[in-house]
Amino acid sequence: MEQQQQFKILIADATHQDFAQIIVDEMESSAKARGTGIAKRSPDYIKEKMREGKAVIAFTEDGIWAGFCYIETWSHGEYVANSGLIVSPPFRKSGLAKLIKKNIFQLSRKTYPESKIFGLTTGLAVMKINSELGYEPVTYSELTQDENFWAGCKSCVNYEILMSKDRKNCMCTAMLYDPKDHYEPEETTQDFKKHSKLYERFMRIKQWKLLAPFMKHHAEGHEGSAKSANNGVRHKSFFHSFFHF
Ligand SMILES: CC(C)(COP(=O)(O)OP(=O)(O)OC[C@H]1O[C@@H](n2cnc3c(N)ncnc32)[C@H](O)[C@@H]1OP(=O)(O)O)[C@@H](O)C(=O)NCCC(=O)NCCS
Repeated sequence: MEQQQQFKILIADATHQDFAQIIVDEMESSAKARGTGIAKRSPDYIKEKMREGKAVIAFTEDGIWAGFCYIETWSHGEYVANSGLIVSPPFRKSGLAKLIKKNIFQLSRKTYPESKIFGLTTGLAVMKINSELGYEPVTYSELTQDENFWAGCKSCVNYEILMSKDRKNCMCTAMLYDPKDHYEPEETTQDFKKHSKLYERFMRIKQWKLLAPFMKHHAEGHEGSAKSANNGVRHKSFFHSFFHF
């Protein structure tokens, strides 16, 4: 019987800085392979996160780098994002992303107990992991409005779409854990199980809807601009966030 790979998950520190380049390279090549957008990070930025103890790094038992994720704070600490999740390709699909996310979530809760924790993702795997931690899908209006956070999207291929939607929607699904107002992880896990097929379809429809004006724009040679309605009201419905076309 094949033996299950074991991993060491550590809070990163200055001793891990030599891994910054390989992490950044893997983030970029994975985004290219998926054909999705990504906010680019520099090796120096990753090193800073390591020195500050605001990152989690994973290794195999033999010391081979296997995965990474870091913490960012926005709106003067009102919000925390767990960003840059990456698992090295040979170690995917063995539960490592789940372990890393659990550890970075615990580190975030401990370091910033009052902060709302959020993430943006185009992937169903990450939606599933987040749901198991108690995150729920939300509209972009419920995320930080810190300019510096959104400036990070400038290097993403979908930035034009984000701006055409007044920063209210894009390819990514937003998910949030609010320590003061959240579902229990059992509830969000159940919701995801029950609706994952629908979520997958909504994500496809949403991406098609968001891309359509740009396809048209290229065909007709003029810019499409559809303003999405958003009254900023928080609806306690998992589906609400998908309908902001
Ligand atoms: C997305 C990524 C982090 C997942 O890492 P991983 O270690 O393979 O994930 P896990 O093994 O912990 O899987 C978690 C769950 O998601 C599922 N999953 C993993 N990859 C999946 C995929 N491509 N599509 C659908 N589900 C997937 C797993 O089956 C697992 O579900 P289970 O609990 O029912 O077994 C990894 O593929 C990666 O680094 N991709 C490139 C970077 C990226 O997309 N980062 C996320 C940015 S938001």
